[in-house]
Amino acid sequence: MPWVPFAQINYEELVALHGEIYPRPFRVDERLLWSKTVASPRYDPTNSWRMKSGGDTLGAITCKQPGTWQGAAAHVLPITGLWAQEPDIAHQLLEKVEEEAIRQGFATLQFGGDADHLWPSLPAGSDLVAEYLTSAGYTCTHESYDVERDLKDYAPPAGTIESLQGCTVRRATAADGEALAEFFGRAFPGRWRQDGLRRWARTPQDLVILIAEEKVEGFALTQQAGTPNPIAGANWHIDLGLDWAALGPIGLSEATRGRGWGHGLLAWALQDLQQQGARRTIIDWTVLLDFYGRHGFERARTYQHFSKSLPVIPPR
Ligand SMILES: CC(C)(COP(=O)(O)OP(=O)(O)OC[C@H]1O[C@@H](n2cnc3c(N)ncnc32)[C@H](O)[C@@H]1OP(=O)(O)O)[C@@H](O)C(=O)NCCC(=O)NCCS
Repeated sequence: MPWVPFAQINYEELVALHGEIYPRPFRVDERLLWSKTVASPRYDPTNSWRMKSGGDTLGAITCKQPGTWQGAAAHVLPITGLWAQEPDIAHQLLEKVEEEAIRQGFATLQFGGDADHLWPSLPAGSDLVAEYLTSAGYTCTHESYDVERDLKDYAPPAGTIESLQGCTVRRATAADGEALAEFFGRAFPGRWRQDGLRRWARTPQDLVILIAEEKVEGFALTQQAGTPNPIAGANWHIDLGLDWAALGPIGLSEATRGRGWGHGLLAWALQDLQQQGARRTIIDWTVLLDFYGRHGFERARTYQHFSKSLPVIPPR
């Protein structure tokens, strides 16, 4: 069966295949799949393939080059997505990527969690793909999940907004670049620095910031219906419905944690989204159910983190 580069994919066909093998809460459209694959600056054309028979797509796999943020694991090759209905096709796609990954010196293959990711890892309930990965030697190392709630009747838990006395919380503006660069460099120098500053450069108001003693000490990234560039939890906006919103990541500098500001910042951002008409709201890729549960969020989607260690070929 002929291999062709993934870049020649018909996205309409891929969306249909996606809908057949992944659960409904993970529905996508053509633009989203395009933006997470060939349109991403980290798209890896050497490890992205489509298998076809005649004009029809039988399956596809796409990878990304490792992230460029500080601390990114250069030895891990992330698979953005795998689409195939037949086990035989899936195995050929996985094998092709694995052979090339070993040749390129990668030590690990990881499902999801790539730069501009589609998902943190495999959506639970994708039984077919879980079976493909398991039989190809991948193992599930841990789980994470999204949480969701409708903001229609959200009210901040008692004391949370009050905990913000002494600090300022507001949406970022174009003038906050220097203060944000200093904050991210100090508090979250890895992926969140890159994702946060990129978002700020496009739409500064998507960042909610917490300022204490004239320094940024915390942030939350929010997205809402209509954003032209959904990332993270916003990827599932089709399932969230009209007037959706997404929050995350959220973080405070280490020195300021444990004072109640985390709950305060979250409450402020949720109330602000609510005032702008946001309804179903997602906070993605977390394990902090108790923290978000205090604000009425419930577990919504689960991810099974699959990866595979590769044999390392000693240099000749
Ligand atoms: C999560 C975070 C924003 C909370 O802010 P904070 O100011 O420390 O939180 P508060 O003082 O308002 O409240 C502390 C609560 O968070 C919980 N919490 C914070 N970090 C936690 C962690 N890693 N695991 C479990 N619980 C945690 C505490 O148990 C406490 O619980 P409570 O709701 O019963 O009071 C902050 O700890 C942080 O930036 N952590 C690192 C980044 C991160 O993990 N972000 C969330 C990713 S989903």
